[in-house]
Amino acid sequence: MNKKKATLYNILFVLVAAGLLIFLLNAPPETTVKLPRDKDHISFYDMPRKEAEKHCSKCHGEEAGNPLPKNHPPKYRCLFCHKLTRPS
Ligand code: HEC
Ligand code: HEC
Repeated sequence: MNKKKATLYNILFVLVAAGLLIFLLNAPPETTVKLPRDKDHISFYDMPRKEAEKHCSKCHGEEAGNPLPKNHPPKYRCLFCHKLTRPS
């Protein structure tokens, strides 16, 4: 490879890398509602996530008082999407 070509490839590489970085930095912020820190949910903060998720459907299942919205995305592993609220 001659020198000119190598320089060209180096410039291209930097441009692509910069483009990727800008793309990643522009990702939308996380907007999914977090797990509330109230009396209904506080006990789940001291549990492994997998254990906690077994209890969600008691209140958020089809028949429960607080069912999920109709357009709710696939719902296994609740706490991957609904992150814990940081203590304030
Ligand atoms: C004891 C009943 C109960 C259990 C168990 C429960 N929830 Fe809830 N949850 C509620 C009630 C009542 C509300 C609505 C009031 C509110 O917004 O805090 C709610 C609201 C929510 C919200 C919406 C908060 C908002 O800001 O709109 C999310 C997300 C949620 N629960 C996730 C979960 C997950 C995940 C679990 C299992 C780890 C769970 N809940 C278990 C009763 C419960
Ligand atoms: C794939 C990601 C994902 C998973 C898994 C998931 N959710 Fe959600 N959930 C969402 C999104 C997105 C919304 C729409 C409302 C928002 O957060 O902007 C939502 C909304 C909700 C709401 C209504 C919040 C409100 O104020 O409108 C509740 C309650 C809730 N989810 C509970 C649960 C429970 C319980 C589970 C597990 C059985 C679960 N979610 C699993 C992404 C998820």
